[in-house]
Amino acid sequence: MKKVCMFGLGFVGLPLALSFAMRGCKVTGVDIDVNLVDELNRGITHHFETYQGKTIQEILREELAKGSFKAITDGLKAMEECDNIIVTVGIPVENYKSDITPLIEVCKTVGQGLKKGDLVLIRSTVIPGTTRNIIMPILERESGLKAGKDFYLAYSSERIAEGKAFDEFENMPAALAGIDEESTAKALELMSIVTKAPITQASSMEVVETAKVMENISRDVNIAMVNEFARFAKAMGLDIFEVIKVANTHKRVNLLTPGPGVGGYCLPNAVFYLLPKAEELNVKLDLLLTARRVNEEMPRFVADLVLRNLPVAPNQARIAALGLAMKDFSNDDRISPAHMVIKHLQNAGCTVKAFDPAVPSRYDYKVDTVEEAVKDAHGIVILARQTAIDFMNLDYYYRLMSKEGTPFIVDTKNIYQDDEWVTAKGFKLEKL
Ligand SMILES: NC(=O)c1ccc[n+]([C@@H]2O[C@H](COP(=O)([O-])OP(=O)(O)OC[C@H]3O[C@@H](n4cnc5c(N)ncnc54)[C@H](O)[C@@H]3O)[C@@H](O)[C@H]2O)c1
Repeated sequence: MKKVCMFGLGFVGLPLALSFAMRGCKVTGVDIDVNLVDELNRGITHHFETYQGKTIQEILREELAKGSFKAITDGLKAMEECDNIIVTVGIPVENYKSDITPLIEVCKTVGQGLKKGDLVLIRSTVIPGTTRNIIMPILERESGLKAGKDFYLAYSSERIAEGKAFDEFENMPAALAGIDEESTAKALELMSIVTKAPITQASSMEVVETAKVMENISRDVNIAMVNEFARFAKAMGLDIFEVIKVANTHKRVNLLTPGPGVGGYCLPNAVFYLLPKAEELNVKLDLLLTARRVNEEMPRFVADLVLRNLPVAPNQARIAALGLAMKDFSNDDRISPAHMVIKHLQNAGCTVKAFDPAVPSRYDYKVDTVEEAVKDAHGIVILARQTAIDFMNLDYYYRLMSKEGTPFIVDTKNIYQDDEWVTAKGFKLEKL
């Protein structure tokens, strides 16, 4: 039975910890968030993950009951009992600058608790070169041990999408490299407990770190392209979703789906992990930064679609925003474009009431029922799909909404395929 210590119990760390626990490992999860640790030990999590018909809440309670998972805040204590340490603490980005402090702090703790023979496996998304140039010296300094001689060190990128975490830990091909062959072999043995898909062993940790950042940026750039296409199609009076459907009949074309922007922790941050290294190496990232800007402009574009449909002056307008999550069917609203759309509308003077039953975070514009959001609103803007929001209940929404002008819907998610059905219900429909 392997003893695993998981640092960071967020969207990646918790389901990964439980994936090891379900497969017979004894897992101690460490997080500095006292409330989170307390909730987890009481079997509470707000994440939306499932595995083989069970919810993450059920899995958490089962593993707690079996004694194969527990959460604590004391990293040093956790490490006394474990010899496999996995780090999933991320690098936040503020004002276009990455802040590596949380990762450094966690590595200091790991270094202090490190014992001879331990394996440290980094799974956070990092600035290329971080594991060798920043993490390894911290671990060596804090522990007085030598990487490769006294302990093993490896990097493996994490590729899961929230909502599919359990399945993708198991079935998504992974990439891995250690500081030496033994570290790679140790990490491979550990990862293979959960990952059944092929695990590519790369020639260096830098290759895996860089590939991960580029994987994320490639999605950001591809989405920027279709978001720009959406703006063009709109000006042409064409339905972008139909245009994409037609374009994708070409066997070598695979356009992604446009939307109100690109949110979450991973994609918007990615280029700012490449940027510090690119500046150091004097390499320009013009295309990548332009793509980021295109995606950042989308919330303003969506807000303008709302504003141009207002039947009253913006400072008298009431808008219902449905869906706050950073993507469909998610509870994660970090860096969500929905918040940015709302900010633009508020700055223009509108009163916005937002509803998203999946998102646990509180905001002064967030209400608890769809009725509160829609009541007396002049228009609805749809920003994320959620199973608990019935977007087809248009008769109900129509009854609740203001009749000062024609009630309107701005649909950024292509929910309404049949425009005439929506207009027959009394709405003006504006698609992306
Ligand atoms: N969310 C995703 O879908 C996803 C997918 C692939 C990769 N990643 C990467 O995985 C990493 C984690 O992402 P996430 O979404 O799980 O982040 P998260 O914010 O949900 O979780 C990180 C956790 O680390 C904790 N933490 C911070 N400092 C700590 C410390 N010193 N000791 C212990 N815990 C500490 C935080 O309290 C938080 O609970 C990031 O590098 C991210 O880029 C995320």
